[in-house]
This record gives sequence, structure tokens and C-alpha cells, in this order.
Amino acid sequence: MTEPAPSLQELEQLTAQALAAAREAATLSELEQVRIRFLGRKSRLSEILRSLPHLPPAQRADIGKRANELKASLDASLATRRQALAAAPAPPSLDVTLPGSAVVQGRLHPISQTIHAILSCFLPLGFEVVEGPEAEFEYYNFDALNIPRDHPSRESFDTFFLELPSSDPAKGRLLLRSHTSPVQIRVMESLKPPLRILVPGKVFRPDPLDASHSFMFHQVEGLMVDERTSFADLKGVLERFLKTLFGEATRARFRPHFFPFTEPSAEVDIACASCVGRGCSTCAQKGWLEIMGCGMVHPNVFKAVGYDPRRVQGFAFGMGVERIAMLQHGITDIRLFFENDLRFLEQF
Ligand code: PHE
Repeated sequence: MTEPAPSLQELEQLTAQALAAAREAATLSELEQVRIRFLGRKSRLSEILRSLPHLPPAQRADIGKRANELKASLDASLATRRQALAAAPAPPSLDVTLPGSAVVQGRLHPISQTIHAILSCFLPLGFEVVEGPEAEFEYYNFDALNIPRDHPSRESFDTFFLELPSSDPAKGRLLLRSHTSPVQIRVMESLKPPLRILVPGKVFRPDPLDASHSFMFHQVEGLMVDERTSFADLKGVLERFLKTLFGEATRARFRPHFFPFTEPSAEVDIACASCVGRGCSTCAQKGWLEIMGCGMVHPNVFKAVGYDPRRVQGFAFGMGVERIAMLQHGITDIRLFFENDLRFLEQF
């Protein structure tokens, strides 16, 4: 059987085909097929190499040189491709019987958790949750709450005033509210008594940051207004709340205090759980921990919202959420809540 005489042109074609096939091989076994096809004993190239001695000397040198070059470059590209295929990751295999990979679930910030815990103590007593704006008018933060113009907390070092033109000049300048009490006024302006509300939210005071102070913290405010609401109701509701939150053994005391918007006013302390009243570093040796402010709504506050103080009475209270969260968890530095360090946050 006579084979066609090899030509340089045929070798060029063969080179192009062989290199493309090597590049396109998708698996190691496909690559082996390419090797057999182009370099195997029965391949056209082997045939050509075997036929060299029979070629006329004029062609022998050229064809021989080109055929050996083809063999060398195909060897090299097969080796390169083999390495690449061996390093590639194995095609994914699906085992539907394996347990799924867990989805990392987020959680509420410890301050949000404490707010929820506080709110849920009051919900069975018929309180509803409302919110108010953080940027507030002077009128709601101070005037309507019976805080006179010459009261020290009016001065700018106690309050962040906003350098924005007031949208309602009759209500004074805009500021970042320094407590949640302004929402008492907003709610009473829009609703008729009786009412029972709770107001969670952020408040702002220009205090230097340290272990127990932050320029932003959270409060939960409470307000109940009805006919014949008394200080006994205030005491009953707050004692119930403190026992639900801190445990039935919790003891509370009401200590006379002053707030412009309540009269009489009190601060509520709970007996320090760490030392059971003996005095330790948690309670600054006092045996008691201040937990909230409260009192009977001042008649001037009712007058400001158009309620008749001879017909309705009410009580109000306000507590610092960070303070309570620190007691719940034994945390001694308020800054931990705001640093976004997951090593801290993941513990709650
Ligand atoms: N607003 C007061 C404060 O921030 C707390 C308070 C609220 C006191 C309601 C009495 C009644 O200190």
C-alpha cells in the first residue's frame, strides 16, 4: 500500500490540528486520546517519520526537521495541558444525603434585647408602644414639660442643639432630644385620656464618653393617664415590672426626688443583687442601684396639652436601658455596646 508523500503543507495543517486538540481536551483521558491520535504508532506523524529514509534527499532534510519540531511542540503542549487538568478541582459531586451547611443567623443587639424584655413586662398591663422623633423641638423637650427657661439643662452644654432652621419657630429651636419625655406631650396632644403608653428610643447628651456615660443612649418612657390614677398605681406597676424583669425576690425603694414635669417625684432603686444590700463596687458601696425616675404628672403638663388636671391624673416614668442591660449581664463598661466588636456581641 502506497502512502501519500508527506509535504510541508500537510505538516503545517497537522501541527495546527494537533495543538488545537491538545488545548481543547477537557479531561485527562481526552488528552490521552489526543496523544494516541497524533503521536501514537499508527499516527500520521509516526508514519511520516518512518518514511523519512525513503524520501528523496532534497525533501528529507526539510520534512524531517519540521516533523521533529511538530513532535516536540506537541509533547510540550500535552505536558502543559496535563498539568493544568491535574491541578483543576474535581468536578463538584452532589451528595443529597449530607446534612446542609448551617446558615449563620444574626441576632438582636443586646440593647434591643433588653428593650424587648422591658416592653414585654408592661404589655400584659395594657400599655401600648409608640415612638417619637429624635430631632425634637425645644417646646416638646422642655417648655411643655414644665422645664422653665432658666433651668440649667436648657443651656447648650447639656443639649445638642441642631444648626438647622426650625420648621416651626413657635416651637423653638431643633435639638437632639435629651430624654424620651417629649413623646408624652406628643401623644397627649393627639389622644384623649385614658391612655397607657411606652416609648423606647435613643436620647442624646453631650457627656464625655467614659465607662458609664455615652453621648447617645436609650430610654424607655412610660405614661399612664386616667381618672383616679394614684401614686399607689405607680408603685404597683413599677414593682410588678421590676420583679418580672429582675426576679420575684427583687426589692425596690422609692426615694423622693425632683423632676419639673412630675410632682411628687421619686427615683427608684433596687437592692444590689451582687451584695444583697451590704455595699460593693457594683453599687458604689450604697447597697442600692438607681434604676429609674418617676412621678405623678405635673398639672402644668396636663394644662400644656389641654387636659383638665382636676379630672385626670397620671404617672410617668423613665429608665436608662444601658444601665439595666449592664445589671442584667454584669457588664461594667457602657462603651462595649457601641464598639461593634463581634466577640462581645456574639455572647448575647
Ligand atoms: N426624663 C427623665 C430623665 O431623663 C426621667 C423621667 C421620666 C422622670 C418620666 C420622671 C418621669 O431623667
